[in-house]
Parts: sequence; C-alpha cells; structure tokens
Amino acid sequence: MDRIVNLAKRRGFVFPSSEIYGGFRSTWDYGPLGVLLKRNVKEAWWRAMVQCRDDIVGLDAAILMAPKVWEASGHVATFSDPLVDCRNCQERFRADQLPASGACPNCGAKDSFTDARQFNLMFKTYVGPVEDDASIAWLRPETAQGIFVNFPQVQTTSRKKPPFGIAQIGKAFRNEITPGNFTFRTREFEQMELEYFVPPEEGQKWFEYWCAERLRWYRDLGIPDDLLRLRQHEADELSHYSTGTADVEYLYPWGWGELEGIANRTDFDLSKHAEFSGKDLTYFDQEGDRRYVPHVVEPSAGADRATLAFLLAAYDEEEVRGEKRTVLRLDPRLAPIKVAVLPLSKNERLSPTAKEVAASLRPSFQIDYDEAGAIGRRYRRHDEIGTPFCVTVDFDTLDDKAVTVRERDSMAQERVSIDDLVSHLSDRLPR
Ligand code: GAP
Repeated sequence: MDRIVNLAKRRGFVFPSSEIYGGFRSTWDYGPLGVLLKRNVKEAWWRAMVQCRDDIVGLDAAILMAPKVWEASGHVATFSDPLVDCRNCQERFRADQLPASGACPNCGAKDSFTDARQFNLMFKTYVGPVEDDASIAWLRPETAQGIFVNFPQVQTTSRKKPPFGIAQIGKAFRNEITPGNFTFRTREFEQMELEYFVPPEEGQKWFEYWCAERLRWYRDLGIPDDLLRLRQHEADELSHYSTGTADVEYLYPWGWGELEGIANRTDFDLSKHAEFSGKDLTYFDQEGDRRYVPHVVEPSAGADRATLAFLLAAYDEEEVRGEKRTVLRLDPRLAPIKVAVLPLSKNERLSPTAKEVAASLRPSFQIDYDEAGAIGRRYRRHDEIGTPFCVTVDFDTLDDKAVTVRERDSMAQERVSIDDLVSHLSDRLPR
C-alpha cells in the first residue's frame, strides 16, 4: 500500500487535498494521471452499462435535492452510525468497529468509551441567505435517489418498459466518522449506480443476474479471480431498504473490502416517494393488463474504490537484466496514457519528426511526448505509469519513415511505418 501511495503522489495520480495547508482530513485530489485513470474507469462502466445495452439509459441529476427526498428515503431517520468517544484520548470511533478486547485502538485505555450515540452521516447545508430550519438541504449521500425521483420522467421520455435501468455517475457525500485507507473511505466520493426496474416477481432473478454481471466486469478489466469475491450480507447487515445484498469485495492490502454493493431494494423507494410526494409512481403493463410498483435491483459501485483496486492489482515489480522494473500492468482501456512518443535522444534532427508523429497520434489517443533523459529511463518511467506502447523515433526513421513500437508487458519491439501507425495502435488499443 505504501508503494502505491508513494507512486500515486510521486507520479501525479493522487495528492493529499489542500496539501500546502497541511492536507484536509482524508480528502484527496486526482492529479494529471489520476484524473485520466479515473475517467477511464468511469468510461468503462458507462460503456458496459449504457452504451453497449439497449435496456439502460443515463441520467445526471442534481446533487442538491428537495429535503423531503431524504425523509422519504429514510436517510434523515436512519442513515447513521453509532459513535463513541474515548474518555482518555478523546478519539472518536464507530462503535460497531471496535476491537473485541474493549481497549481503545488509539491509546490502549480499557473501558474508556462513552455510550454510543447515533450520528447522521449526511452533510447538512443551507440554501439561500438565511440559516434556519426551513432552508436546510442535504448533500446527497447516494446518487440513487436522483434516479428514483426521476423514474416517471425517464420512463415516459425514453419509452422503456421494465425490465429496464437508469444509470448515473456522480459525487456523493458522507460525514464518515473514520475515513481512511487512502481513497478507500472518504467523505466526498464518486458513485457509479444503476437502478434496474423490474416486475415484482423478477427481483431475485435480476439480483442474481447483476451479481454475476458485475463480477465479470471487474474480471474483464484485469482484476484476478483470487483478489475478487462476492459476499452475501447477513440479515443484521442489511440496509433499511434491502431484502438482499451482496458485496463485490477486493482483497486490499489490509484485507477484504467492499468495491460495490448489489441490493434488492424491492419497491421500497418508489413506494416511499409515492407516499411522500402524493404522485403515482406505478407502471402500467399493457401486455399483462396490470399496474404495479416496479421492484429495483441496484448495483452500486464506488469509482474511487474501483480506481484504487485497479491500481493495486496492476502494480508489479520484476527484475530485468539485473535491474528492478516497476510496471503497472493496467488494462490498456484503463491506462492513463496510451502511447508515449520518444525521440531516441534530444536532438535537433529527431525532434521535428518526433513532434510530427506525436501530433498525428494526438487526435486518436491520449499521448505523452517525452524527450528528456536516456531512452531506457524514459521506458521505465512509462512502465511505471502503465503506458501500453512507446513509440521511438530514431535516426533510421529519417530515411525509412518507420518507428519502433515497444509493448509494455513483453517489452517486445517491432518496426512500424509511420503511415500505418494509427491503425497499428488502434488494433491493439481496444475501447
Ligand atoms: N445506493 C446504494 C449505496 O449507496 P453503499 O454500499 O452505501 O450503497 C455503494 O455504497 C458504494 O459506494 C460502495 O460499495 C463503495 O464503493 C462506495 N462508497 C460508499 N461509501 C464510500 C466512502 N465513504 N468512500 C468511498 N467510497 C464509498
């Protein structure tokens, strides 16, 4: 984990937020490479969930919503964690995460905890200039509710019939008592959520379908089987809205941790919103000649947790000709930089051609142009950030109008004509 945190900071994947002020309580900023990696993770999710399917449409709902939404959803009443303080060191903990020994994990004091009190995890703010009860608003703790309250508009405008889904990617906020483990648990994070609306009797069938489908997505993008598992929730773990939940878990360096929750939310949310808003949220099934409140199966993934898992799973060190090589074996679809263009050396005869090659690739791929330092070191710098291909322009290029293409994992090199370069790389860089 330390190596990943170090690499992330040194190479510009993730920085502590507000670092010049000493950081800010487990918040993180994605740097130039991190933002590309995370965008690619979200793009891979959107492609699998929306673009490649005809039963799912997208949505981008506002973060601020009518406060009634959070009363109806149950979050105002029940979205809380039990909080205790250590009387000895004043540190705060979640009561359900304390060690069985009863000793304070921070100072070791015995039986030093206050009684647990419920602490609501939603961030409160005020809309408008007056800070009174009438102007309270909440930052959404999940993107899902934006989907539920838009169900009738999306269903009628898209003319979809259950089973169909609405997908959304966006920020969510939770005032976590114990954020930590780098970007794993933070107070501001991004979710990739699908609400899949189905006829009431089909909930279990689609729950099983989405468990298998979501595991397949992580595997397809390179997470090995032994680092991935599906864990069914025990009855006492279930959220207030769920009759069945399974977590997709990743074996993080500190142990198994949740990547994604897949829940059978039944008709809980639509029924509650119908009750609190007074609006009809049923669906009329013409073929079956019946009206029903759709049930919902929800695969809800964290973009930050997935990004971290892909980074961790990709990290590798090996020995090449007596030297250590660090390589991020990221799936090319996720790699932040797809192609590095490298003149063999910084030379006034090579640079113009190398810059032309770079310019010809730029509209097709995210590239990096790098001419500083020895060529071997530049290969290593790109191995370390997972760049699948390096294109080297050498003195022969000036005569034969061809370049050397080096593949990251095998380090195999082949000569490719500049005219064929875009199609050669496109064939090897699937979307
Ligand atoms: N709408 C359902 C829902 O929000 P959840 O299991 O509470 O379910 C879904 O959250 C996913 O969001 C988690 O599996 C995780 O990937 C991500 N997530 C939740 N809390 C997070 C936090 N504090 N920091 C980072 N990611 C978080």
